Amino acid sequence: MTIPQMEPWLGEEEAAAVNDYMRSGGWLMEHDKSRQFESLIANHTGAAHCIVTVNGTVSLTLAALACDVKAGDEVIVPNYTMIATANSVFLLGATPVFVDVEPETLCLDIDRTEAALTTKTRAIILVTANGRYPRAGVQAFVDLANKHGLVLIEDAAQSLGSRFTDGRHMGSVGKVGSFSFSVPKIITTGQGGCLITNDSELAERLRKLKDFGRAAGGTDIHQSIGYNFKFTDLQACVGIEQMKKLDWRIQRKKEILAKYRQALRAVGSVKFFDQDLVNTTPWFIDILCERRADLQAHLKSKGIGSRVMYPPINRQEAYQRAGHHPVSELVGRQGLWLPSSSQLTDQQIETVCDSIAEFYN
Ligand SMILES: Cc1ncc(COP(=O)(O)O)c(C=O)c1O
Repeated sequence: MTIPQMEPWLGEEEAAAVNDYMRSGGWLMEHDKSRQFESLIANHTGAAHCIVTVNGTVSLTLAALACDVKAGDEVIVPNYTMIATANSVFLLGATPVFVDVEPETLCLDIDRTEAALTTKTRAIILVTANGRYPRAGVQAFVDLANKHGLVLIEDAAQSLGSRFTDGRHMGSVGKVGSFSFSVPKIITTGQGGCLITNDSELAERLRKLKDFGRAAGGTDIHQSIGYNFKFTDLQACVGIEQMKKLDWRIQRKKEILAKYRQALRAVGSVKFFDQDLVNTTPWFIDILCERRADLQAHLKSKGIGSRVMYPPINRQEAYQRAGHHPVSELVGRQGLWLPSSSQLTDQQIETVCDSIAEFYN
């Protein structure tokens, strides 16, 4: 593809950092570089604690474990999200309960969420889809969780660089918030993820759980069961350099969406979601479009990549759950991601938009 839907962006800085580290005698495993990377994320998000881990799926499992989500519990999950959100609690024997999302934001619909609560519900996972917040606001979800004695976990995998309207960073409002650093994200460490929280006791539990339940670093005394969900310093070297580029990327992602919106404003067959470009940062350029498969084929013939958005999870073969979820079903038919890399040039955005306009004309 001449203009791929997404491509990684790693520069000389990351290469040099890894090279320097390799020559420094470091142990590669999680240590000082990881602590430094965690501080950068904590500073950026304003969270008291950041705990790095294997990826943005394991981070959710770890969060749920630390919040006592157990086999038999139900966990509210949006029916539109990356399937990892649901699978992360399925691994613990909990049942993900799929709730439809709002058409404007693709975040959980609060009324449908409340209607789906049962005596077995233990947690709500609020996914801030593409860095967007639900129309009811995050506080309404905090209040709902408190009212019913539930844990609010924020899956902010797509939301580094996005804040709620009161200035709090996504992921920092619920009991615990999760991020992913997989390659398509705004910054990457290849694989990788982290949790942020303001709860010191929970942070301590998370750190123990991800390190075999060790009483302290460097000992083999275990007071509780734990696992090995640790990061590596090699990845942290990459992450530290990527964090230096985050502010610029946030700015650029906002500009990219603004340019797409402007260039496609007259194309009635393409619809954008409600993205607040003052507070939030789009991760991917997501649209609803008519005749999606034909549009994709047209773009492909011009060397332009695109990607179909997540299908409704209840309809995935992995789950096969009955239920009617009109918004996630619509996204399953019409949702498309357009080229979204931070390094897209204005000229490339114009080329993509001209090709889309040409298709519909
Ligand atoms: C909303 C959401 N949750 C979880 C994940 C899983 O993250 P990872 O790929 O790091 O396991 C992703 C990844 O795309 C995601 O978008």
